[in-house]
Amino acid sequence: MNKNKFYITTPIYYPSDKLHIGNTYTTVVSDAIARYKRMRGFDVMFLTGTDEHGEKLQQIAEKKGLKPIEYIDGIVASIKDLWSLMNISYDRFIRTTDDYHIESVQKIFKQLYDQGDIYLGSYEGLYCTPCEAFWTETQAVGGKCPDCGREVHPAKEEAYFFKMSKYADQLLKYIEEHPDFIEPESRRNEMVNNFLKPGLQDLCISRTSFDWGIPVPINEKHVIYVWIDALSNYITALGYQNGKYNDFDDFWPADVHVIGKDILRFHTIYWPIMLMALGLPLPKKVYGHGWLLIDGGKMSKSKGNVVDPAILSKYFGVDAIRYYLLSEISMGQDGNYTNELFINRINSDLANDLGNLLSRTTSMIIKYFGGAVPAPEGKTDFDGILEQFALDTVKKVEKEMDSYYVSNAVSTMMSLVSRANKYIDETAPWVLAKDEAKKGELASVMYHLYECLRFAAIMLKPIMPESSSKMALQLGISEAELSWDNLCFTDKYVGTAVTKGEALFPRIDAEKTIAEITAEAQAKLAPARKPLVHKEQVTIDAFEKLEIRAVKVLECEPVPKSDKLLKFIVDDGEGRRQIVSGIAKYYKPEELIGKTLAAIVNLMPVKLRGVESCGMLLSAESGDTVKVIMLDDSVEAGGEIR
Ligand code: ME8
Ligand code: MG
Repeated sequence: MNKNKFYITTPIYYPSDKLHIGNTYTTVVSDAIARYKRMRGFDVMFLTGTDEHGEKLQQIAEKKGLKPIEYIDGIVASIKDLWSLMNISYDRFIRTTDDYHIESVQKIFKQLYDQGDIYLGSYEGLYCTPCEAFWTETQAVGGKCPDCGREVHPAKEEAYFFKMSKYADQLLKYIEEHPDFIEPESRRNEMVNNFLKPGLQDLCISRTSFDWGIPVPINEKHVIYVWIDALSNYITALGYQNGKYNDFDDFWPADVHVIGKDILRFHTIYWPIMLMALGLPLPKKVYGHGWLLIDGGKMSKSKGNVVDPAILSKYFGVDAIRYYLLSEISMGQDGNYTNELFINRINSDLANDLGNLLSRTTSMIIKYFGGAVPAPEGKTDFDGILEQFALDTVKKVEKEMDSYYVSNAVSTMMSLVSRANKYIDETAPWVLAKDEAKKGELASVMYHLYECLRFAAIMLKPIMPESSSKMALQLGISEAELSWDNLCFTDKYVGTAVTKGEALFPRIDAEKTIAEITAEAQAKLAPARKPLVHKEQVTIDAFEKLEIRAVKVLECEPVPKSDKLLKFIVDDGEGRRQIVSGIAKYYKPEELIGKTLAAIVNLMPVKLRGVESCGMLLSAESGDTVKVIMLDDSVEAGGEIR
């Protein structure tokens, strides 16, 4: 029999060495949904990957003196490590630098060009380099990018354009006829009212100002706009227009694209229009989640408040992080993170409610029934209520998970745990145990507690896979028995031997732990200080022997056949002087022309690669790079430096 297919995607991430628990949310929530769907019998394709082109990455790599791909390969490896740490069960990982993806994107571009949806024009606007986005004067209020708030700069280039306007009405109609297409609703209204209804402009989809991208197949001077390249991943990864994979027909259209709210516009306007132009069906849902804020603000490394998943997982385990993320961010809203909130939640929900239910239940079964789950021979007044509650919980969890309201599902699962704890108070098994006549009732209580824990272990499996397995071990059931079909009351487990294991989630001493984490995070953030190597002490005479002067750069060009050397012609206060300097890796010649620098001018001339150098520019090492000493431009050429 052919299983039902389910296709879920995360955004492909920009390679960054700054991923924090906030960034991981999209992928963790997708993982929970994918795991749940597998448990429900679906044949799941869970796709993630990396978005590797664009000017920004080229610039970062250049600054480090690396080729873009050399820089990116290392980061992609660390992202894969992060996903393995977080227990992400992706089925496929796409890199936009993969050959098959490049091939497909070029074919897509060619097709859209041939059918007249793409044309050559020219673009003038305000460009935000970090976001790779052009803005109009009205959009870029105060010269700032409306997305990231950083400065935009005027730019003009010959470019290819996509006739978005041609499809705007069709898309508007589609969104109106498919109210489930964009979630949450508030964001759907924003897309319709702020972007679609005012009328779409044609989208500029090629760049000539840099070359780290997929070449436009009909004009190699251009590279394809990163978003066109990136969005295509959702179909190229299934083998659309390439021979690498061939499950496009099985899995397209996607059941859900899970994304953060910041990239909703790309996924609900540009992407559907691309698909319409290609004659392909649209994804069933685009699900834009809120963000995890830290102390109410955006996380960022520069603010020094990045929360490192590697550090947190060492102290609390990966499941505690997954649990926190999945319960904290609810549909259409942002979540908040502070160490205090996190630890309190772990202590109350996981250590107290869940952990205690498990340890109390196994202890009592061991104490009263020698460790074997008893048959429910008697009956208490509360058994029926608890059973009904458990069965209702399963239905509610299914409903929430099927609509991807994961945080609601988690709180519903945990409500069964609380209900079971309340059942212990209601039935007071320690009182029943004192009365031989109540042995049947006691057995019923133990049986019901055991069954509720079994339910919890099954339902929590997509949320906390490792803890769910640990629970199964203590409950004496196999991994395979943690199956959705087993969510019913049964006598199948009567006689099963339970064991008392380690605490599932040990209680955390908040104050002590926060101090430890903070210290560790700070140590990791602070760059390791290299010990300085000192020289012997000298008197002022040694310094006086050097003639150091301000010089103005008149000309600057690379020394042929050398990737290290730049040749300068400077004004030294008397005339032109030639100096060669080994800083080609750190500066482009045009960046230095006109600048006022510091040079030692009485060094004996030397030849570097056959080019004479009369003096030496002063510079400072700074981490992996080198910065020349720049003087204020008001300093005159020839001014002596002492
Ligand atoms: O946007 N809380 O990649 P990306 C929750 N390459 N989610 C957060 C977050 C936070 N604090 N910070 C980031 C891109 N995210 C593009 C996608 S898809 C064709 C191309 C989420 O690495 C963000 O919303 O900047 C996005 O869903 C994901 O992390 C990756 O972001
Ligand atoms: Mg982003």
